[in-house]
Amino acid sequence: MPDWLDCGQQDSMSTERIAIYPGTFDPITNGHTDLVARAARVLPRVVVAIAESPHKKPLFSLEERIELARSQVAGLGNVEVVGFNNLLAEFVQQFGATIIIRGLRAVSDFEYEFQLASMNRHLAPDVETLFLTPDEEFSFISSSLVKEIARLHGDVSEFVCDEVKQAMQRRFAQSG
Ligand code: COA
Repeated sequence: MPDWLDCGQQDSMSTERIAIYPGTFDPITNGHTDLVARAARVLPRVVVAIAESPHKKPLFSLEERIELARSQVAGLGNVEVVGFNNLLAEFVQQFGATIIIRGLRAVSDFEYEFQLASMNRHLAPDVETLFLTPDEEFSFISSSLVKEIARLHGDVSEFVCDEVKQAMQRRFAQSG
């Protein structure tokens, strides 16, 4: 490599950058998995961080959401799944991460995401939020919609993997 091209990029590239992809993941959908796979292609280490989010009254416990997410990313060697119940900005720093990944599905996501990224930057100035867009076939999926369809016995095969589909069927059979 010529001297004029060596601006120290090689050193900075070899420092492992950890990216945190936070969410409630109640449950993980194909849209989330698509985003994780995209992030894992361009970043050395991706951590799917599942927020306990008790205020959202999740259908699945934190442990169940972690287990379902792990079943989805098992094939991706540089991806791991963890849970957290503190402030995201604090958790990211504790983890030694410098990147937060968020997905933008449509323009309607932008305002909330802009606010979240700005607040996280305020709380953790050394952490950058990176936005990725999922494949357009997933741009209208949300966990709430998928749960609503499953609760009413609709077919969710296009939106979630088999493990998640079966877990929802079991949960809704229990609750009647
Ligand atoms: N594919 C499919 N669905 C997607 C998606 C994608 N790529 N990206 C987002 N969604 C869906 C989610 O499933 C979710 O659907 P739901 O509301 O129907 O469940 C919805 O879009 C909103 O997602 P998101 O904005 O990621 O909300 P969330 O609850 O999943 O995550 C946290 C929000 C966890 C990042 C945020 O609450 C947080 O940081 N919590 C920790 C506490 C904290 O620090 N709070 C202060 C923040 S400044």
